[in-house]
Amino acid sequence: MRHFFLFLTGLILAACSSDSDVMAETQAVQGGNTLVVFYSYTGNCRKIVDELTSQITADVVEIQPAEKGLSYEANNYALGTKLLNAINADPDNAQSYPAIDPVDVQLSKYKNVIIVTPLWWSQMAAIMQTYLFNAGSQMAGKNIGLIVSSASSGISGVVKDCKRLVPDGNYFSEPLWIRSSQVKNVASLISGWLQKINLNIDDEEDENMKIKVSDGTNTIVYELNTTSAAKSLYNMLPMEVEVQNYSNNEKIFYPATDISYAADCIEGDCPAGTLALFSPWGNVVMFYGPASRYSGLYILGKAISGTDHIKNLSGTITVEPLDNSTGIRAYVKPSLNPAEYTLSGTIAQKGYKGIVVSDGKKILR
Ligand SMILES: Cc1cc2nc3c(=O)[nH]c(=O)nc-3n(C[C@H](O)[C@H](O)[C@H](O)COP(=O)(O)O)c2cc1C
Repeated sequence: MRHFFLFLTGLILAACSSDSDVMAETQAVQGGNTLVVFYSYTGNCRKIVDELTSQITADVVEIQPAEKGLSYEANNYALGTKLLNAINADPDNAQSYPAIDPVDVQLSKYKNVIIVTPLWWSQMAAIMQTYLFNAGSQMAGKNIGLIVSSASSGISGVVKDCKRLVPDGNYFSEPLWIRSSQVKNVASLISGWLQKINLNIDDEEDENMKIKVSDGTNTIVYELNTTSAAKSLYNMLPMEVEVQNYSNNEKIFYPATDISYAADCIEGDCPAGTLALFSPWGNVVMFYGPASRYSGLYILGKAISGTDHIKNLSGTITVEPLDNSTGIRAYVKPSLNPAEYTLSGTIAQKGYKGIVVSDGKKILR
């Protein structure tokens, strides 16, 4: 089995500043239709991900807090509690979530997303909540797996958080709960779970044409159907055109040359997110509100991400085939040694002499 860990360049620099030999392993990006997203504070979720990715092919991205060296458990878990209280007080407000390092993953590439997170006070760890608050809407329609590590508490609160943050995910039949005490024997728990959820890790290229529409600020990815009109549009890309408002539910544009269409084209109701050709006028329609079937309005495809951004498109837009790269610039096989902390809760730098806490154990360095 292939075993790939993908990390963003920025994350690598942050995560590996005290572990220079890890940097040497930076290699080219590999693909796959499964993304594993994890956060780990004391190393248990990292070990789970290490085992998971020895059993399946997946890209892996680690979520990291922007502020390094914090001790979430110090003073009876005071900081961890404070972060969760802020989220609970105002969960719809981005300001309620702790800052994380940028995560530049192109989610549109993946069919499956497996989230691996610690439990904090019977909820999802605040750092992972930030990522899902930012990216959850882009996971609509994707198969979502959830693996939770806790010391002993049950994980229903984490499942609830996940469904709040990724409301339109297509969840696998059950999440996987792994207690800290089970981490050493995690292989069979993971293989049993993978069998139950019947994860499809088929690496075959998705043959559907996908295109990206962007004005630089708002980006929408569409999956096209296989009709002659959709192929005709795809074959004339990339293009730059002016987007226009039409009615109260459409953004439209006119390609420089006519889109050709034949009898195979499909008419039908157009929910928000539908991409269509209005053949009498030759314009492409991006619906952000629903429309009924109309003669000569041919469906070209549907948005697979960014539907909420369609109504904000303005000015010149670029329409181009979707770049199939992951958006992850480099990957490394990370050190599996968890960070070591001094007794005052800061990360022990390389060469530190004294007692450190590593993976929950005190060690004299
Ligand atoms: C701030 C904080 C709060 C926690 N709250 C709980 C809890 O309520 N119940 C529990 O069983 N474990 C709790 N834990 C323990 C973690 O869930 C557990 O150690 C997990 O395996 C950590 O995963 P990690 O090593 O990947 O960070 C908490 C840990 C932290 C840091």
